[in-house]
Amino acid sequence: MLNLSKIKVALVGVGNCASAFVQGLQYYSDREKEEECIGLRNIFLGDLHSRNIQIVAAFDIDSRKVGKDLSEAIFAPPNNTLKLVDVPNTNVTVHNGPVLDGVGEYTKNIVRVSRLSEANVVDVLKESEAEIVVNLLPSGGIKASQWYAEQALVAQCAFVNATPVFIASDAEWAKRFEEAELPLVGDDLIDQVGATTLHKTLLKLLSMHGVRITETYQLDVGGGTESLDTLGRTRDIKREVKTKSVETALQYKADVVAGSTDYVDFLQNRRDSYFWIKGLYFCKVPMQIDLRLSTVDAPNAGSTLFDVLRAVKIALNRKMKGVILPISAYAFKHPPQLMPIETAEKTFADFIKGNT
Ligand SMILES: NC(=O)c1ccc[n+]([C@@H]2O[C@H](COP(=O)([O-])OP(=O)(O)OC[C@H]3O[C@@H](n4cnc5c(N)ncnc54)[C@H](O)[C@@H]3O)[C@@H](O)[C@H]2O)c1
Repeated sequence: MLNLSKIKVALVGVGNCASAFVQGLQYYSDREKEEECIGLRNIFLGDLHSRNIQIVAAFDIDSRKVGKDLSEAIFAPPNNTLKLVDVPNTNVTVHNGPVLDGVGEYTKNIVRVSRLSEANVVDVLKESEAEIVVNLLPSGGIKASQWYAEQALVAQCAFVNATPVFIASDAEWAKRFEEAELPLVGDDLIDQVGATTLHKTLLKLLSMHGVRITETYQLDVGGGTESLDTLGRTRDIKREVKTKSVETALQYKADVVAGSTDYVDFLQNRRDSYFWIKGLYFCKVPMQIDLRLSTVDAPNAGSTLFDVLRAVKIALNRKMKGVILPISAYAFKHPPQLMPIETAEKTFADFIKGNT
């Protein structure tokens, strides 16, 4: 039977990622045949379709987005991701939140902070009956991300942390969500065509075939606001998270570097990721790989977000609380516990089936 239940979601940050996500909800809303749903990992998860996801509230701080209907705000500058589809009026007005550290030194000339009065975020969450808050703030907004996690706790909402700020992987936050009997998942969403996943898979494949990897790097350049913010504030943390993750693909020590490098404005929301792999095979004969992956950043989060929100709804229905490890390990680069890809996939599949 058709599951008509709603997954009521509040978006924090109406940037590029939110834009692609909202467009994706529209794009897939009336599609369910395999050939109509190209680009989706799971058309249904359990019995939930992406059309079960309903955005009920949204928050930003940019004057070109605040006070606008979400359907308009997602296309407002400085958002520069692709326009994929027309989005009809959503009847969700973007509310003004506190800026805190949401705007960094490098992005202050790009973001125009709204002068409208700040909304009472907890009241908006409660009135809209939001059950899940999705954090899509700039990665450098550490205080702002923590502040919204706090509001989610007060308003009794589950929290999805798509940013690299440590929330789900922080024991104190995990405990607080556990005590509040609310699900928490994160940190740092995995892309559908993920450079880190591709890198790990290549390294594993080569290692499995007896190649000894000696040196490898993965560096990328992008042109979205987030790439600029990364340059100013989160380059080091992103490098640490990605490097640790890539290192798990090898069972021995090699020289590994993985991270973001630079901002190139004319790339718009495109991202170019460069991979270099050097190793030794039969009789220590050297080999090397030089690769480039080109993607558009924001749509790369869409399919994973669809899965995460439906999985968190399943956790809510089962009254699960605290960090939900099967979701965090499957869909995030920095979960509280890193797992090999196959283990994370199996744990997630078992969770959806109700076996964990
Ligand atoms: N493929 C992906 O796009 C992807 C994948 C993994 C993780 N992420 C993470 O998702 C987050 C969002 O990425 P993005 O590309 O959409 O960034 P973005 O810079 O385009 O969007 C951020 C939005 O947050 C708003 N904002 C800033 N401070 C705020 C505040 N205090 N309150 C409310 N809104 C505020 C900005 O005005 C902007 O609209 C980043 O942390 C990024 O690392 C994205």
